[in-house]
Amino acid sequence: MIILGIETTCDETAAAVVERSDAGQGKILSNIVLSQVAEHAAFGGVVPEIAARAHVETLDRIIGKAMDDAGLAFPRIDGVAAAAGPGLIGGVIVGLTTAKAIALVNEKPLIAVNHLEAHALTARLTDGTAFPYCLFLASGGHTQIVAVRGIGDYVRLGTTVDDAIGEAFDKTAKLLGLGYPGGPLVEAEAANGNPARFALPRPMAGKPNADFSLSGLKTALRLEAEKIAPISDQDVRDLCASFQQAVVDVVADRLRAGLKLFRERCGNPTALVAAGGVAANEAIRKVLHRLAFEVGTVLVVPPPALCTDNGAMIAWAGAERLALGLTDTLESPPHARWPLSDVTSSGGRPAPGRKPG
Ligand code: KG4
Ligand code: ZN
Repeated sequence: MIILGIETTCDETAAAVVERSDAGQGKILSNIVLSQVAEHAAFGGVVPEIAARAHVETLDRIIGKAMDDAGLAFPRIDGVAAAAGPGLIGGVIVGLTTAKAIALVNEKPLIAVNHLEAHALTARLTDGTAFPYCLFLASGGHTQIVAVRGIGDYVRLGTTVDDAIGEAFDKTAKLLGLGYPGGPLVEAEAANGNPARFALPRPMAGKPNADFSLSGLKTALRLEAEKIAPISDQDVRDLCASFQQAVVDVVADRLRAGLKLFRERCGNPTALVAAGGVAANEAIRKVLHRLAFEVGTVLVVPPPALCTDNGAMIAWAGAERLALGLTDTLESPPHARWPLSDVTSSGGRPAPGRKPG
């Protein structure tokens, strides 16, 4: 089957066409992503109203390009999938409404995909990873450890109680005047810094649950920077290296707890799967490799373009759901919040009009 996927939950306007064979193998026929980074850079983060307007202005063109690149017209597709949340509501409305219009006009099924479910299932598109596996999702908006047991069968083992990891990188970069998005900039500075110079906390370390907390780390970094102000270029490098080391230690500790919970509840994972922009960080990848090795499993990290927000993951999640006969009505609502644990495989979507969870 061939599915068109649309992603507009944050600051990427994206559309893709993906084919799923009856045997469950995936093939990306096209994958177009337009990043709005330039529009948001001056503000040091994503501005929801600017994002929504940019989606409106560009989505038609991006979908047209995705269809052209796949060499297909709408009658040839078997369904239209859109991210229906969680995310910035203005953008979600743009993508979901557009998908509904295409589905309605072409008489195709609509699949209202949970954005987190799409991240969770990407490893099946890229690597054919079998259930159950342990997902570590770390982006600018999300930090979660999830047991992925089947389509619509997700158990959240841990989450952040405050900032997401990517958000902490972005705030650190902003504090140090490095620019946006902060992750790659902080990583580049950290490469020439001393990770042991500043004694930063490792929040939640040793706790039996698998939750994260990052806001205290960010505050501690600000206090260290204020203590030595004005800061030199080498101070910036050392602050970045110390911050990154603290994040790496936190990820190792929290994931160790998450993998323990996983094995207690679901047995051995077939893989540790990383997703989200933060998975691009070399130091974090290294520790993920070590953790996977420790528990006798493999690390699966989809290529960067499929780890960050994209339309192919939405199309693929739509295909996986449609293959089970799961479709959604044209009344399906957009959700600002939509926990992965609310997604099921029995068509049990939050009912229209229900308060988004
Ligand atoms: O998945 P993503 O592209 O978008 C969403 O947030 O949904 O993730 C972007 C986040 C940003 O916060 C960015 O700073 C972070 O991922 N990031 C990184 C790196 N590359 C991107 N964080 C740490 N190290 C990196 N190399
Ligand atoms: Zn995402």
